[in-house]
Amino acid sequence: MSRARTLFFCTDCGHEASRWEGQCPGCGAWNTLVEAPRDAAAGRGGRTPAAGQAVRPLRAVTHSAGARLRTGIGEFDFVLGGGLVPGSLLLVGGEPGIGKSTLLLQAAAALRAAGVATLYVSGEESAAQVRLRADRVGHGAVDVDFVAETDVDAVIEFARTLPGGVVFIDSIQTMNATDAEGSPGNVTQIRECAARLQRFAKGAGTAVVLVGHLTKDGSVAGPRMLEHMVDTVLYFEGAAGLDHRVLRATKNRFGGVDEIGVFRMTPGGLEAAEDPSAVFLSSRASEVSGTAVLAAIEGTRPLLVEVQALCTRASYGAPQRVADGFDRQRLALLLAVLERRAGIAFGAFDVFLNVAGGVRVSEPAADLAVAAALVSAARDRPVPSGSVFAGEVGLGGEVRRVGQIERRLTEAARLGFLQGWVPPASDPVRVKGLRVIPVVDLAALVGDAFP
Ligand code: TYD
Ligand code: MG
Repeated sequence: MSRARTLFFCTDCGHEASRWEGQCPGCGAWNTLVEAPRDAAAGRGGRTPAAGQAVRPLRAVTHSAGARLRTGIGEFDFVLGGGLVPGSLLLVGGEPGIGKSTLLLQAAAALRAAGVATLYVSGEESAAQVRLRADRVGHGAVDVDFVAETDVDAVIEFARTLPGGVVFIDSIQTMNATDAEGSPGNVTQIRECAARLQRFAKGAGTAVVLVGHLTKDGSVAGPRMLEHMVDTVLYFEGAAGLDHRVLRATKNRFGGVDEIGVFRMTPGGLEAAEDPSAVFLSSRASEVSGTAVLAAIEGTRPLLVEVQALCTRASYGAPQRVADGFDRQRLALLLAVLERRAGIAFGAFDVFLNVAGGVRVSEPAADLAVAAALVSAARDRPVPSGSVFAGEVGLGGEVRRVGQIERRLTEAARLGFLQGWVPPASDPVRVKGLRVIPVVDLAALVGDAFP
């Protein structure tokens, strides 16, 4: 076995290369390859086998992936797919102030109360600041073991005292590997600290939960590199000024990625939202034009989401198409289909589309609600009172079937909606208290909903 070769890695995607290149072969970004420190390269590259390592059949390998550590915070466990997996590395990303530290302190307290060894490490806040938060959230948070530390090797030494437990590190950007280059927060440091923590987690069977701050472009700093290194990535998001928060898995080696958890930030910490399916409905008291409610499914959970559209006469140049919480190209496509198949022209209008509550909808079933909101805005007439929509729209203007119509409509009925506009079906669903209206195509939507 030879000396470790020098490795280069991409600061964007984490791709490794044995020589420097101007363009990353992994992601195509330019000038992102940097030289990795030799010992870091040794950790990944031509390493001699560690003592005690031997080749053996997989049958002889034991694992603990089945044994989950339940945090006891229902929404958190739900998103994780049943709890934390021992020895896994998890990243919780989110904008500053969204509630990451609060969520993890509460998780630490709940785990501790359940008899799991926990340690909360902060490189960001002083012990006194964290104590104030602990007082606020209650539930035994003041009993969580805490240390203010930024040296990653020191953190690992502390963490060795809790095999099978959970270490929370707030945040990865403040961790420092003294023998690696650069200051905390730069990619080399983040990569090296995360690599050491990962090695520790796997070796000791201790779950390590990292807080990661988001950069301007919405990815965890160090961009995607960190996401590649960890087992699970959770994002904590919410809209400014609103008190609900959504926890969403974007990567999960041990579970699904489309479940969401919905919380409410209260003066005494985070609480599970009582009626998660309804938190994205704004006050529906005033039935204004340009709004339509989508009966969505996120993971296994029905969710009612309000879509808002606004059309104003374009003053000059190309009309604007602005979408928040919905794909802009999909909006352009729906506008084209509405124009061509239902005769509603948007060419002279600026169109703004917004999904209320800061949530993002990406399922095809959102099309019909978006189309209804657009038609309502263009005609300046509200959709029929108590309506929800679900259906995909094809290029021919036809409304296509989407999954789980019955669950979507049952939830809508429970929340007091009266009519469900859905794709036609040979065997239409029946939902108590709600009129199911099949919509063949967009022309039919315009004719029936805006007669
Ligand atoms: P924090 O967990 O510090 O956010 P992050 O770690 O993501 O930066 O939470 C910050 C916000 O949450 C802050 O504006 C205060 C608010 N908050 C509450 O409303 N209630 C609480 O019980 C706590 C602890 C914080
Ligand atoms: Mg914080």
